[in-house]
Amino acid sequence: MTIAKRIFFTSISFFVFNSCASDSNEQSVDDRLDTLLSKMTLEEKIGQMNQYSSFWDVTGPAPKEGSTAKQFEQLKNGLVGSMLNVNGVENVRKLQQIAVEETRLGIPLIFGFDVIHGFKTISPIPLAEAASWDLEAIELSAKNAALEASAAGINWTFAPMVDISRDARWGRVMEGAGEDPYLGSKIAHARVKGFQGDDLSAPTTIAACAKHFAGYGFPEAGKEYNTVDIGAPTLHNMVMPPFKATIDAGVRTFMNSFSQLNGVPATGSKYLQRTLLKEKWNFDGFIVSDWGSISEMVAHGYAKGDNHAAELAINAGSDMDMESHLYVNELASLVKEGKVDPALINDAARRILKVKFELGLFDDPYKYCDEAREASVIGSQSNLSEVLDLAKKSIVLLKNENNVLPLAKKGQKIAVIGALASDKTSPLGNWRLAADINSAVSLLEGLKAYSGNTITYAKGADLTTGKTEFVSDLTINTTDTSGFKEAITLAKKSDVVIMALGEHAMQSGEGRSRAYLGLPGVQQELLEAVFAVNKNIVLVLSNGRPLTIPWAAQNIPTILEGWHLGTQSGNALAQVLYGDYNPSGKLPMTFPRSVGQLPLYYNYKNTGRPSPVNPGEVFWTHYIDQKNTPQYPFGFGLSYTTFGFSKPIVNNTYNQNKQVTVSVKVTNTGKREGKETVQLYLRDIYASVIRPMRELKGFEQVVLTPGQTKEIIFTLTEQELGFFNNQQKWLVEKGDFEVYVGEDSQTINQVNFKL
Ligand code: GLC
Repeated sequence: MTIAKRIFFTSISFFVFNSCASDSNEQSVDDRLDTLLSKMTLEEKIGQMNQYSSFWDVTGPAPKEGSTAKQFEQLKNGLVGSMLNVNGVENVRKLQQIAVEETRLGIPLIFGFDVIHGFKTISPIPLAEAASWDLEAIELSAKNAALEASAAGINWTFAPMVDISRDARWGRVMEGAGEDPYLGSKIAHARVKGFQGDDLSAPTTIAACAKHFAGYGFPEAGKEYNTVDIGAPTLHNMVMPPFKATIDAGVRTFMNSFSQLNGVPATGSKYLQRTLLKEKWNFDGFIVSDWGSISEMVAHGYAKGDNHAAELAINAGSDMDMESHLYVNELASLVKEGKVDPALINDAARRILKVKFELGLFDDPYKYCDEAREASVIGSQSNLSEVLDLAKKSIVLLKNENNVLPLAKKGQKIAVIGALASDKTSPLGNWRLAADINSAVSLLEGLKAYSGNTITYAKGADLTTGKTEFVSDLTINTTDTSGFKEAITLAKKSDVVIMALGEHAMQSGEGRSRAYLGLPGVQQELLEAVFAVNKNIVLVLSNGRPLTIPWAAQNIPTILEGWHLGTQSGNALAQVLYGDYNPSGKLPMTFPRSVGQLPLYYNYKNTGRPSPVNPGEVFWTHYIDQKNTPQYPFGFGLSYTTFGFSKPIVNNTYNQNKQVTVSVKVTNTGKREGKETVQLYLRDIYASVIRPMRELKGFEQVVLTPGQTKEIIFTLTEQELGFFNNQQKWLVEKGDFEVYVGEDSQTINQVNFKL
């Protein structure tokens, strides 16, 4: 661009930009939007709807040929509204300068990134965070992630993922909050509040994105991207509540899903995006498509070609096109041919620009480009203590026979066996794009730093062979047991053996569905070989999903669910293993006995034949080769102490004030302080639409010293007592209810009441 031209464009964009910015005090955002939109051409409005992934190494020369050259030209011509996967102030500033100083109107870009559970400092994977049931800690985790990401130039995260799922075969269960809509809704609300804070225009907060709208967590057979067919009661009573919770939290963006829902791709669903989200829920932010999902409607068999896909997507309400290039290539002609109403383009562009105004990007497009703040925040890992705190709270004690745990801090010969024990990258989980890949504290490091015991390590066997990358399939070691001998020899002469087994981080996450859920590779053989010489085993699981571990559950005295706990993984595990933190985690997702039971979840319906009429007869809902019950149920988690519960007492004043209160006393009946998550489950015994056997409708965490008792009072309102019927009408029906209050979803501590 010639000097003269650059001066011309800079002055024009400066004028337009400042005409939108200078009167920011007088004009409302809406007025400023009207002013800006009135100046924009159709192509420039469509440009706002066009998002590219970082296509250019901005610290290097600009692309001169190929598709990236075309994208670069579109950027300079104001035909790009957003970028994703651009990391670092230098890179963001370079791209923002082009958008603000070289285009006709100087409209700033919005920079998105998958800040799923941390940015540089990684917190536990979301499924692990959910196991803490600690909403304040979860909100703080999102807030800290926003502090780091915003320091690196990011102003929008593609999180929280709020997809409810009941199928551990699906790899993305690691990214959500598990199987329950009540817990999922509370966590979704907390995460949005954490990311967005109270002031979205602050340089330390970022726009959140509720995803994937909707139903993505119910793929048939747990197979990634597979068909989703969900009936109305499940869709509205299980899938939708967490999305609605993000609306109530003020979420500014949504992302639609790759998958089809009941025969229509989510990206092309007018019902989801316009009727429900934008009209019924009054959502005034914008919807970004998932990566290429607009063009994928052709493969779905819903669009006859790219042009038709673009037409379907905009008409259905998908505002921004992530990386399918169809909006920028097709929309202008569709408008000119009369196939797309220009008002829809105006509305989509307006929604996107509105969020940019709310982020303050028009007042200062470089507000997230603070080199000094980046230098001081990124890498300082200032929130290491908070990440450690949440990691400890996320650990679930599944079994502790003979009280092998907590370990003594000295005088013991401890063997640590398993490839995952020394793995410094798997604890970071699948979504760790900005983190240094070996930046986690490993279990072995944590144990060694934490005690005066003799800690000796033997890998036993590789878990993976070859490369382990975000985009590539893994190769699991299924044959090499050459390390077993060394591990067995070590186990023989040790007091305690800590077996670090489970999944590599790249065995869960997107594109990582599994048809078998046992310990991958030769790990089960290794476990049994060690058990044969030393039964004093603590199994520490590192995994991104519920696994099937029937043999271990039967034979191993102590089992700790350690998920992928993030940067502070080894330190958190060590503090729990040595008893400096009494484990308090509770499962947010059911652990099946076998993969054939899936989908398996606690809030199931009774069926018409829940139990045998005559013993030995087969005419009831069951398997002939497996139990109906899970290995470990939703809400389950042990402690180093024990807790007792009084029988719940109901005070039913529903007819007076639409409330039913349930009180219970919980006592620490053990020998050390501990935290209990007291859970309340409700059953509406008969209704116009069959209700689940139990539904979580309240929980409260209490920390009690030995012998201490605390009364907890739960309040049930229409919100907890009601449900959506098949016509999406919210109903509270008179009738009989059962209330269960206790330590997990299988508690029998029950009382009844009648509305
Ligand atoms: C991915 C994911 C989505 C993510 C997006 C951008 O394919 O489905 O969750 O936010 O692309 O990386």
